[in-house]
Amino acid sequence: MIRRYVFGHMIETDTVQVKPAVSEDRIPYFAVDVEKMTFTMPLGPDDRVYGLGENVRGINKRGWIYRSCATDQPYHQEDTLQMYSAHNFLVVEGANRFGLFVDYPGIVTFDIAYTDINTMQIRLSDFNADIYVITGDSILDIVRQFRQMIGQSYIPPRWAMGFGQSRWGYVTESDVRNVVRRYRELGMPLDSVYLDIDYMDHYKDFTVDKERFPDLAKLSAELKEQGIHLVPIIDAAVKLEDGYSVCDEGLEKGYFCTREDGEPFVGAVWPGLSLFPDVLSAEARAWFGNQYRALLDQGIEGFWNDMNEPAIFYTEERLEDTLEKVSEYRGKKLDLQSFWKMMGIWNSMHHSPGTYREFYHNIDGKRVCHETVHNLYGYNMTRAAGEAFGRLSPDKRILLFSRSSCIGMHRYGGTWMGDNRSWWSHLLLNLKMLPSLNMCGFLFTGADIGGFNNDTTEDLVMRWTELGIFTPLMRNHSALRTREQEVYQFTDMDGFRHVLSMRYVLLPYIYSEWVKAALCDEMLFRPLAFDYPEDERAVRIEDQLMLGDGMMIAPVYEQNAVGRMVYLPERMKLFTFHKDGTRDEVVLEKGDHYVPCALTDVIFFVRSNHMIPVSSGGHCVAEVDFDHVQFLTFPDGGSSEYEYYTDDGLTRDVKLDGHITKYRMDAAGAVCTA
Ligand code: GLC
Repeated sequence: MIRRYVFGHMIETDTVQVKPAVSEDRIPYFAVDVEKMTFTMPLGPDDRVYGLGENVRGINKRGWIYRSCATDQPYHQEDTLQMYSAHNFLVVEGANRFGLFVDYPGIVTFDIAYTDINTMQIRLSDFNADIYVITGDSILDIVRQFRQMIGQSYIPPRWAMGFGQSRWGYVTESDVRNVVRRYRELGMPLDSVYLDIDYMDHYKDFTVDKERFPDLAKLSAELKEQGIHLVPIIDAAVKLEDGYSVCDEGLEKGYFCTREDGEPFVGAVWPGLSLFPDVLSAEARAWFGNQYRALLDQGIEGFWNDMNEPAIFYTEERLEDTLEKVSEYRGKKLDLQSFWKMMGIWNSMHHSPGTYREFYHNIDGKRVCHETVHNLYGYNMTRAAGEAFGRLSPDKRILLFSRSSCIGMHRYGGTWMGDNRSWWSHLLLNLKMLPSLNMCGFLFTGADIGGFNNDTTEDLVMRWTELGIFTPLMRNHSALRTREQEVYQFTDMDGFRHVLSMRYVLLPYIYSEWVKAALCDEMLFRPLAFDYPEDERAVRIEDQLMLGDGMMIAPVYEQNAVGRMVYLPERMKLFTFHKDGTRDEVVLEKGDHYVPCALTDVIFFVRSNHMIPVSSGGHCVAEVDFDHVQFLTFPDGGSSEYEYYTDDGLTRDVKLDGHITKYRMDAAGAVCTA
């Protein structure tokens, strides 16, 4: 059951698709303090809190303070408060069980037993929010009700589930051709190459640098013949430059955000001084979305939207002001305290939160300060593209994902987990974010495999790829000036070929489970706590996940480990795929097990009386035979059925009807169509 409580007058976020009637009773569980703008509830010692989408720390979010305030956060670690996205949905499980969605476009703080170890407090920046309280039979039931309320998750084309190679540093067409050549020569699977900002003419959105990429349409067509899609980046900020059509037209029509005095707001991002499309205005949103046509017309079928928190390095005013303040220190004999004070002034210029108070949107003719609707920006940039693709590509699905998001955006695109680091701890963080993001509707998600910032190592890329083969978005991406981390930069080519190939072997299962999860408002990745709520051990497991109906994953995330401890909440069969092409199948009882896992082994577990449809692989998704699948099985004294979903992978005809084949497994493990 969902109850809706209205506080003040919320600025519409368009997140909730089916709004229940407003409840007249008092909001349960929480004490409300209107003056302090807080909702407070005691947490019992055994209460657990799940959700909040993209955030640091555990699957159980208890024990930290999280702020929903979309922020460019390339240095995130355990003490980070706010990430690229703002996902205000959580579930409390314990003495009470309920879900809570704070439908609110501004900044929210979730203090989950941080200030007081026995208290959860939620604080808004102004008291204009719709709060939804959801009760149900189980956590999964609550999540399902929430997801039904916010609408169906985005489903990209099937090729987008293939492996993608990316790097900030592919500067020319020949760089791109080289990546493809190396993968193909080594017999490695690959489905996409990502184009980072250097493909553009001076970082101008929707342009192509003619010297470096003389004929993008030709390149895109040629690569498609090899099964490769090019996926260019689009940044939120539009370069301020006379004669650049997107800038000129947007200025003429008034489609950019404005300052208080009504003049266009200017901030510096990659292109230098830039304007920010007012994607919160329906008209400007439609206009910005239509710009993607310039690339669609050149055969491009996928995009990643970036810098859309929006990231603003500085404004000219703030730069002036900072220079002035800092210059006051010139000639003074600084003690350490004043030195650090000066450094503080200098550093506060970059991504200054104050900047968000300095510009405005035009929402249905009303001028609204950006700060009050801050978290909606990345969502609406992606919505602009998603809505436009509905018009410009009515038959074909287009790949789209975004760095910043807020719940609601899950209907238009996926999200990646931002600029992570080549750290083992970020490999584990990738795993932990998956179920929290799924709760919020983000099913098409993944992290930069190998880590974006910092120099990586071969074993980290290998182990991270072993997790990546299970995540819908599977992309190796790294930053300029870091160690190159395409898999061919390393030593063990057989190992990498084996691990990458396993993705294509598993695709029938992953695609089937993922589309069914999207269509039925289910989670693809679930913490064990959600599937085995009565098992006291399982509810505390933070490094294993259920994947779809029949699988559990437990990747290795520690350097130099050759195995790990795994807790089995029931009898399962362990599958180990070795790089020499052999595989082991071992049935293990409920309980703790040490599971060996050599650096190039792929391991996962299949639940008792379950089956996993697999293919014989391929070098790209187009080569995978989704129609004639084989099964990995664990017959365990019973029979079972599997509803296998498949479709053409490309058109918008994505529905259960007509796309399900039922398979039945008998007690001996023989599988036939039911
Ligand atoms: C941002 C993005 C990153 C990209 C870089 C350059 O940091 O998050 O993925 O490579 O910008 O465009």
